[in-house]
Amino acid sequence: MPRKLVVANWKMHGNLASNQQLLDAYIQKLTPLKNTDVVVCVPYPYLAQAQSILQNTTIAWGAQNLSKDAVGAFTGEVSASMLKDFGASYVIIGHSERATAYCESDENIATKFMQAKSHGLTPILCVGETLIEREAGVMEMVVAKQIDTIMNMYGAAIFANTVVSYEPIWAIGSGLAASAEQAQSMHEFIRGRIACADKGAAASLKILYGGSVNPQNAVQLFAMPDIDGGLIGKCSLSASEFDGICRAAT
Ligand code: PGA
Repeated sequence: MPRKLVVANWKMHGNLASNQQLLDAYIQKLTPLKNTDVVVCVPYPYLAQAQSILQNTTIAWGAQNLSKDAVGAFTGEVSASMLKDFGASYVIIGHSERATAYCESDENIATKFMQAKSHGLTPILCVGETLIEREAGVMEMVVAKQIDTIMNMYGAAIFANTVVSYEPIWAIGSGLAASAEQAQSMHEFIRGRIACADKGAAASLKILYGGSVNPQNAVQLFAMPDIDGGLIGKCSLSASEFDGICRAAT
């Protein structure tokens, strides 16, 4: 059975003292974990702290965004090579909380995906539909466009050994997760879409589910054949809830 992947997305939460406590608790509860890889994506200023606390553990760390450019006069941006300097191995790309608030286009997101991949970071690409789009029955079209933009710009092989996280926007932070069947159906669609263009890339791709995952619903979600793990927001801020979710994956 392929290893599961559970990623904590701390969003804009934490401070030096609370991070230390939370990471210590993660280490105590989650290392080592059989059959499951654990990653924590922290706000930029805490990458050095994550590196110093996690470096000799089985927990990897990463960021929640990166610049679409490699270097230059881009005030406030952070490049892929800067993330590498702090030992990051993963980076979340195109999270809907950013895409909406900061007007990130599918093309911008695709360029960030390429930047991450070409610098040896594993991109975690977030895709998903709004409630209106689901009710209109166009959710697969919406997700297909997000995936196709990357395939059209860089070729399907770029998806090899990367991560896609299906995050229905209506499920994020709402307490209303997608059902295991709804998520499985979209995950199967995503894998199939990429497989049409590159079977090998689709087979090596991990597809996570994100949106109100908790220790209870994680059991059913992670039991689905195309759900390779989860991207966890709120519940990653509690070591015991995050532990419960990781154990559901194991
Ligand atoms: P949530 O966030 O678990 O708080 O719903 C998930 C996400 O935004 O990735």
